[in-house]
Amino acid sequence: MALLPPLDTIAPDLVAAGDYQRYALQRLDANALAYLQGGAADELTCQANLNVWQDWALLPRLLRDLRGGHTRCQLLGDTLQHPILLAPVAYQQLFHPQGERASALAAGVMGGGAVLSSYASTRLEDVAEVASGPLWFQLYWQGDGPRTLALAERAEAAGYKALVLTVDAPVAGIRNREQRAGFALPAGISAVNIDAPPQLPLVPAGGSAVFDGLLALAPHWADVAWLCQHSRLPILLKGILHPQDAQLAMQAGAAGVIVSNHGGRVLDSQLPAVKMLPAIRQALGPEALLLVDGGIRRGTDVLKAIALGADAVLIGRPYIHALATAGALGVAHLLKLLREELEVAMALCGCRTLADISPELLRRAGAEL
Ligand code: GLV
Repeated sequence: MALLPPLDTIAPDLVAAGDYQRYALQRLDANALAYLQGGAADELTCQANLNVWQDWALLPRLLRDLRGGHTRCQLLGDTLQHPILLAPVAYQQLFHPQGERASALAAGVMGGGAVLSSYASTRLEDVAEVASGPLWFQLYWQGDGPRTLALAERAEAAGYKALVLTVDAPVAGIRNREQRAGFALPAGISAVNIDAPPQLPLVPAGGSAVFDGLLALAPHWADVAWLCQHSRLPILLKGILHPQDAQLAMQAGAAGVIVSNHGGRVLDSQLPAVKMLPAIRQALGPEALLLVDGGIRRGTDVLKAIALGADAVLIGRPYIHALATAGALGVAHLLKLLREELEVAMALCGCRTLADISPELLRRAGAEL
């Protein structure tokens, strides 16, 4: 197993996941920051993702025997030491020279999983080489089934255990912060795993670049079903918010759903994903694999997400802040902080295992009991 230096060699004022942002803001240039920090349009959803956790308050249970407790979980046949995965984030060499390799290394060392973006700036095989925990590969539809499957099979051959098909971004969001900053990928950083991006059709005169251009290449439910049939790897659909879409995903053959609004980066004014978790859990039933992301900064956020129906969560920007600050060491330390916070939250709420975390622990903040 890969080793990292002691995690307490990091600065003494880095005591919570959110603390890494301060350092990242100092270290990264304006270009990288516009991409990382920004979201769609007015970034209302980015902000809502952070605020939403305050809508629930915890109602702990006391004096239970919690000896032998742990944060372990089983996902797709793998045992993880904690339910906090690294979400797919593109172009990580923008933030640290070791980019995706550092993140995957850290996830594995901390006993957890990571999802590599199909817009990674590092070859997927080179990332797999350093990972000791399960890696999943995030896919964007590549214009047609066979091209998408070819990329999926390349990931499978490299040892990736599952696919995460992002379905909430058939067109790019309105990224005003990036536009104002003139964001551009620096020389040497690109989506190296995409050999030949699909060619967009020519938009007829008077046509719409959205409807006649990008959407001509976007997948539909039948394409998802085709991919699920042809892939040997389990496929999770990421970006689902509506319970009926969650049901359609499972009917199409998905192995699970990631409830997400893409970090507020695609459609502004969307609901925070966690708000839809209870309805989606109810629609899919207790056995379906359900993950959530968006605004998770604390162990109590993880606990609330699980209480609302998630099996596990993903974090995005926080680990990139840690990556920018201290590479793999930073990411591992951040995961350690979050896991320890989750342990403390579980202990103080009377939960010995993740299975003990139930909706009974939550009350709407401000609501009558
Ligand atoms: C890519 O998926 C992004 O959100 O920038």
